[in-house]
Amino acid sequence: MSAQSPLWVGQKFSPTSRCVMPTAPSKSGKSPKRSKPGRSRASASRPKPSARRTKPASRAAVSRRPARSSKPQRKPKAPLRKAKAKPKTARAKGPSGSRQAAPRPAPGRNGGPAGKRMKIVLFGAGGLVGTRIAKEAVARGHKVVPVQRSAGGLDLDGRHLLTVQGDATDPRSVAELAKGADAVVSAVSARNPPGADTLPRAAKALLEGTRKAGVRRLVVVGGAGSLSVDPRTMLLDSPGFPEAYKPEAREHLEALHIYRRDGQGVDWTFISPAAAVFPGERTGRYQTGEDHVLLDATGQSRISAEDYAVALVDELERGANKGRRMAVAWP
Ligand SMILES: NC(=O)c1ccc[n+]([C@@H]2O[C@H](COP(=O)([O-])OP(=O)(O)OC[C@H]3O[C@@H](n4cnc5c(N)ncnc54)[C@H](OP(=O)(O)O)[C@@H]3O)[C@@H](O)[C@H]2O)c1
Repeated sequence: MSAQSPLWVGQKFSPTSRCVMPTAPSKSGKSPKRSKPGRSRASASRPKPSARRTKPASRAAVSRRPARSSKPQRKPKAPLRKAKAKPKTARAKGPSGSRQAAPRPAPGRNGGPAGKRMKIVLFGAGGLVGTRIAKEAVARGHKVVPVQRSAGGLDLDGRHLLTVQGDATDPRSVAELAKGADAVVSAVSARNPPGADTLPRAAKALLEGTRKAGVRRLVVVGGAGSLSVDPRTMLLDSPGFPEAYKPEAREHLEALHIYRRDGQGVDWTFISPAAAVFPGERTGRYQTGEDHVLLDATGQSRISAEDYAVALVDELERGANKGRRMAVAWP
């Protein structure tokens, strides 16, 4: 990969990041799309670096309820009026017309917005992305069953979770582990060993195993390579996409075909991250799209693994993208 390649101009690529980010024109000379106003299910706009908070706003900060008095309140004698409708707090239209929301509050302990605690079986829990998903889900009060092929444990900021042995490419293993779960999540990679067709085999096994176990919800960590930079070009076919990432990107593409073709009866969602994913800050902010590469305000496609995990757990809790691919990036 040449340092002069358009994808690399001005990029800092840390050894811990997992992929490249497009910033420059694609083959056709057009830049990859930013999410369309109105069409994108943008969650929020990222604050300018100077304004970025290290801690997202708490619910309390958003609440406009008056503080409760400690004195017992007398019943009002006047006839009761109809309660005013609660103001909608989170959603507002951004300057470009795209949907914007306040950053997700810091994780609480009572499950998601719907308050439902889920049992989540997480394949690939020990990886860069898997550990962030486990941490985010546990912090929101969900029960996570972390699965890897190797035995061991996960340390999530002081909490130790024992991992369960299992194989995402084996439908029997998936069915057995998924029994009684509310959702199955896969964050497995195709790198160990490479060239083993892991992701397409996992796609088939995850669909078969979840069906057998009677689990309806399946959320899969996908790749950015199969996102389009223009109507005829995928990121993986665009100039400068690193050769080293192509095999895994192609496996993701094939896996996506399998979910689309054979995913009936399973509420699957394939979540393609931005081109660059790296360990970083949890801002709670991200934008979502469908099949195209999403760029931030500076024209880069990137997201921290922490914010990718926020978007994934939000999708698990809300189920807004069942039966399709969703793209996630910093806005
Ligand atoms: N921009 C992008 O497109 C981008 C960037 C980052 C990540 N990703 C995608 O995100 C996914 C996760 O990446 P990562 O970097 O977090 O991977 P990683 O660090 O290599 O972790 C992969 C995890 O999966 C487990 N695993 C592998 N094969 C398994 C199998 N058959 N059954 C059960 N567990 C298995 C591994 O543990 P054991 O080996 O012990 O089983 C490990 O815990 C990958 O699919 C990757 O392509 C995409």
